[in-house]
Amino acid sequence: MHRIDRASFLQQVGVLGAGAAMASAFTPEKAGTGFKKIRVAVIGCGSVSNMYLPHLSKCPYVDMVSVCDIRPERARAQGEKFRIPHQYNHIDAQLAGAPFELMVNLTNMQEHGRLNKQALLAGKHVWSEKPMANTYAEGRALLDLATSMGLRIWGAPAVVNSPQFALMARSIQEGKLGRVAAAHAHYGHTGPGWSAFFYEKGGGSLPDLGVYNLATLSGLLGPVKSVMAMTSILTLERKVDDKGAIRVEAEDNAMVLMDHGGGVLSHVQCGFNYFDPYGHEGKGQEKPTISIWGTAGNMALIGYDWAPLGVDLATSWTEPAKRLSTDAESYAWEQGASVVAECLATGKEPLITANHALHVLEIIEAARASGQNGQRIQLKSSFAWPLIR
Ligand SMILES: NC(=O)c1ccc[n+]([C@@H]2O[C@H](COP(=O)([O-])OP(=O)(O)OC[C@H]3O[C@@H](n4cnc5c(N)ncnc54)[C@H](O)[C@@H]3O)[C@@H](O)[C@H]2O)c1
Repeated sequence: MHRIDRASFLQQVGVLGAGAAMASAFTPEKAGTGFKKIRVAVIGCGSVSNMYLPHLSKCPYVDMVSVCDIRPERARAQGEKFRIPHQYNHIDAQLAGAPFELMVNLTNMQEHGRLNKQALLAGKHVWSEKPMANTYAEGRALLDLATSMGLRIWGAPAVVNSPQFALMARSIQEGKLGRVAAAHAHYGHTGPGWSAFFYEKGGGSLPDLGVYNLATLSGLLGPVKSVMAMTSILTLERKVDDKGAIRVEAEDNAMVLMDHGGGVLSHVQCGFNYFDPYGHEGKGQEKPTISIWGTAGNMALIGYDWAPLGVDLATSWTEPAKRLSTDAESYAWEQGASVVAECLATGKEPLITANHALHVLEIIEAARASGQNGQRIQLKSSFAWPLIR
């Protein structure tokens, strides 16, 4: 395939200057050879839209068409701020309004399945924040529907896109750790304070936070065969901006054990009751949140997997671990929708796949079931692995 250097690419697509930092997130293969921009509509203009909209607005493959929120003032404000011409207060109006190809769903977790289905039925491709659906069965049906209609659907997170993930995956594939035996990952904070849905049925720390570590560890160690877990609610009541005092219904504390087959075991813990002196962003974090052990080496991811700061690799009895891959390069956790827009525009397949997102959703469902009944739960789903060779 014809390759051009990055500077020429940026010149060709006319994004040097303000957009240059963002444009470096994209590979130039078909740029300048007449790719068609993907018209994008965003539904859900809350907290996370403040991360997605700047990224999408600078993406050379994206033409921002509309925003929608059931709170009309939010759609109006984001539309004005990011100069997006059409603003709606209902998905029906958005789907019937200004034409677009890709819907980006940033609404409450419980709304994802329903809205994603409506978008697919209207002939739109979908990028969904996590989870892609409320249940594994609903998510599988969405993917089947998309496939039957010649459409694509993908779900967050985008953690497999980071250079740190690539380094860890390659180190495992190349045998640098010997035979991999075990891994641990954790992610938590004291819980979002703005919206009740995080704590209502269908919310919880597993689909909001654990999902990142589950995607990373299954991405590194392979599809999970079975799951055992314990889950609990530590904080029974909370105060949130949109509903005041609420009772917490979804787990806010989870411990998940996974069997990847071949004797490889891993563990993820997550929760909404984790004090972290580094704050939610984890800036300045020196300690690992992910550790992987093998017979000939071990590896630790510094910082969170959604905002990684480096990888410590130890393969010697005498030398200290080496700190590698300290630059996030073009990776940003909010890049998923921009990356799939690039795929739709150029045909370049992303590392993120719907099958992987569905597998993670099945792990979450199994963890909840195991937490309830104390049983080990066998999984049905899988995904193409290894992601990186
Ligand atoms: N906030 C973050 O930092 C963050 C980071 C990563 C992922 N996420 C994920 O993003 C999603 C949204 O989270 P958030 O923090 O932005 O929540 P939020 O409550 O701030 O925003 C959600 C928005 O969706 C709107 N909405 C709900 N139902 C709708 C519907 N049927 N039609 C149109 N609009 C609707 C709400 O009015 C609200 O403005 C969740 O899945 C969350 O897990 C959030």
